[in-house]
Amino acid sequence: MNYFENNYLENDRITNDEYKSRLTAFQIPAIIEHFQTLENKQFLDLGCGDIVLGEFQEILGRPIKYFVQDINKNPVDVGINRLKGKGIDTSNIFPLISPYFDLTKIKNQTLDCAFSNSLFSHLTLNSILICLNNLYPKMKRTAKYMSSMIIIPENHNEITYEWKVKYGAISHSARDPYHYKFNLFKKYVESTTSFEVVQNHAYGHPFQRLVEFKAF
Ligand SMILES: C[S@@+](CC[C@H](N)C(=O)[O-])C[C@H]1O[C@@H](n2cnc3c(N)ncnc32)[C@H](O)[C@@H]1O
Repeated sequence: MNYFENNYLENDRITNDEYKSRLTAFQIPAIIEHFQTLENKQFLDLGCGDIVLGEFQEILGRPIKYFVQDINKNPVDVGINRLKGKGIDTSNIFPLISPYFDLTKIKNQTLDCAFSNSLFSHLTLNSILICLNNLYPKMKRTAKYMSSMIIIPENHNEITYEWKVKYGAISHSARDPYHYKFNLFKKYVESTTSFEVVQNHAYGHPFQRLVEFKAF
């Protein structure tokens, strides 16, 4: 399949231990803050990569169903094998591999919570809307989707944005990594999906915010 939006289908996203510990240092507190616990919940990680959260189910709570979705099968397989190698029971993990968020294997209105780290930062608005429109029917009413993304200041009109962070980073309007202005993004999403875009929260990532989508 040709896929041009980002290069994650060509280049497997596999993390090493050092990277995993940096990623989980902000993902775990965010999940606890916004979902309290995943214990016995139906949880979906969209754009899960190699499932960095998988070995922290004792801290996060063990979901009764833990759906892991990604465009690329290999990192998901690597993640499941890593968890098995650590003696973790993976029988609650259900992989969903597809390029355009095919969530048909999840029953309608069953998800208690959904999460993404750095998925929307690699997606165009069109794909984000496909993702949200496929996700909405799967969420219980009032369930939340927390998704990190790159938000630039409202008054910024350039098509690229240079982030003053440790190793430097540039985000773009029309190229991966993609950035968005929050108020405009909220208008697009609320006028074309059934989600409310509640707010964007602080997140431990150097330049991403955690956006809260509420299903009605
Ligand atoms: C920056 S990585 C983050 C991975 C993981 N969430 C983590 O924190 O380690 C972005 C992930 O999104 C996935 N991805 C990119 N485009 C996608 C798409 N169209 N549908 C599903 N997953 C996608 C990539 O394969 C990759 O695993």
